[in-house]
Order: sequence, then structure tokens, then C-alpha cells
Amino acid sequence: MMRATSRAGSNTRASRAGLVGGVMLVSLVSVAAFSIHPEVRAARELADKVTRGRQVVLEHGCGDCHGGGGNPASPEWLSGMRHPEIQETQVGPFKTRPRNLTPDNTTGLGRFSERQIFNAIRYGLRPGETPDVEITSTVPGKGNFPLTPKYLAIPMPWPVFRHMPDEDIWAIAAYLKHAVKPVVNQVPDSEGPPDFWASEYTVEKIGSYPAAAFPTANEVVPKQAVGAR
Ligand code: HEC
Repeated sequence: MMRATSRAGSNTRASRAGLVGGVMLVSLVSVAAFSIHPEVRAARELADKVTRGRQVVLEHGCGDCHGGGGNPASPEWLSGMRHPEIQETQVGPFKTRPRNLTPDNTTGLGRFSERQIFNAIRYGLRPGETPDVEITSTVPGKGNFPLTPKYLAIPMPWPVFRHMPDEDIWAIAAYLKHAVKPVVNQVPDSEGPPDFWASEYTVEKIGSYPAAAFPTANEVVPKQAVGAR
């Protein structure tokens, strides 16, 4: 009986100690969670972002035109046209050339902000000729969308890339600015029409952003999914 009692007593003490320990641990963990230094948190966010950006760049074949194909280990990775015979495109009377996407300050994207890179991919606006502002409309003259937009030359596939979620476009911008080494390679400017391709990028030709609502005349709601929304 005594032994049982004393065992019970020591169990209680042990579990009380365990409880106290547990509470201390939980509070330590939560203190740690809330006291992560902002710089450490920012470092982790940037690490995640550039990892995602690299993946998106690989999946979207940026290197097929901008250099290096699908191989980030290629010495030509994203550094712009080096082989005009295969990288230059003849669009009507104009020759267009994939630019240097490495963060070199004079020949690459170094002098542009992440927002300018975002605006290039979402809206097709040339970073060198578009102010560094947040754009909230696709109507020229509204929400900071330039009245006379200067678009990127064909065949930069921004009309399809623009449908990526915001996070993916920001991730690309972060990857290009912070995780690719600068490479000096001056790509000659693309040639183009005086309207900077505006007449090629009408809603009739490239669709709208956001895309037309589902289902369009070409699509159906699967029978099994009718009523799901
Ligand atoms: C089919 C070829 C092609 C692919 C694929 C492509 N680009 Fe481009 N890109 C171009 C061309 C050509 C230009 C030059 C446009 C011009 O001179 O107006 C360009 C220009 C750009 C610019 C503007 C650079 C500057 O300095 O003005 C950015 C940013 C860019 N591309 C990012 C990307 C990213 C990111 C991807 C992948 C998600 C990608 N491109 C995939 C052809 C391509």
C-alpha cells in the first residue's frame, strides 16, 4: 500500500515535472517562433523564392531562347543571344533577339527592379522603356498602364507567361536578380515597328488578361463536375 502510494506520489511528481517541462518547452518554442530575427526570416523567404524561380524558369524554357536551354550549368545560361543563326527571329522585316537576363548592370537586367521584370512578364512591357511603377490595369492610360505601351518583341512569350500566378512571376524576378551570376554579353537591340508591336498584341490576337471566363465556346464543364461550383 505504502509502496503503491509512494509510487503514485512519485508518478505525480514526475508527471508534474513533465508538465512543467512541457509548458516550458512549448513557451520556448513559441518564443523562438516569434523571435526569429527578421533578417533570418527574410533570408529564408528569399531562399524559397529563388528555388521556386529557378524551377519556373526551367519549366518555361526561358533558356531555349535566352541561352543554355534547360541546363543551368551551361556557360551560356540566360546570358542572351550568342548564336544569331539559331537565336535570332525574323518577324516580317524585323530581326528580334533574346536579351541577356543575367543581372549584369550594363548588358543585363542589373539596372532594372524586380517590379520592372514582373511588369515585363505580366504585361509584356519593355523594362528599359517603362517606368518602375505598380500597374493595376491593362487598359492603356489607366492604373499606371502606359498610354503608349512599349511591348517586348515577338517571340517573347509574355502573352502566355502573364497567366502565371503573381508569386511565380515574383519568384522569377528574384531568381534572375539574386541567384544568377552577372554575365557581360551585349545583345544588339531587337528591331521593331514604331508602335512597339502594339498592333500585334490586341485582345483579338492574344486574348485577354485575365483569360476569358471558363467555359468558353471551346470548352465544357465535365458532366461529373456539373453543380460543383
Ligand atoms: C521563344 C523565345 C523566348 C522565350 C522562351 C523566352 N523569351 Fe524572354 N525574350 C525573348 C526575346 C526575343 C526578347 C527580346 C524582346 C525585345 O527585344 O523587345 C525577350 C526579352 C525578355 C525580357 C526583357 C529583357 C530586357 O532587358 O528588356 C525579359 C525580362 C524576358 N525576356 C524574360 C523571359 C523569361 C523569364 C522567360 C521564361 C519564363 C523568357 N523570357 C522566355 C524571347 C524569349
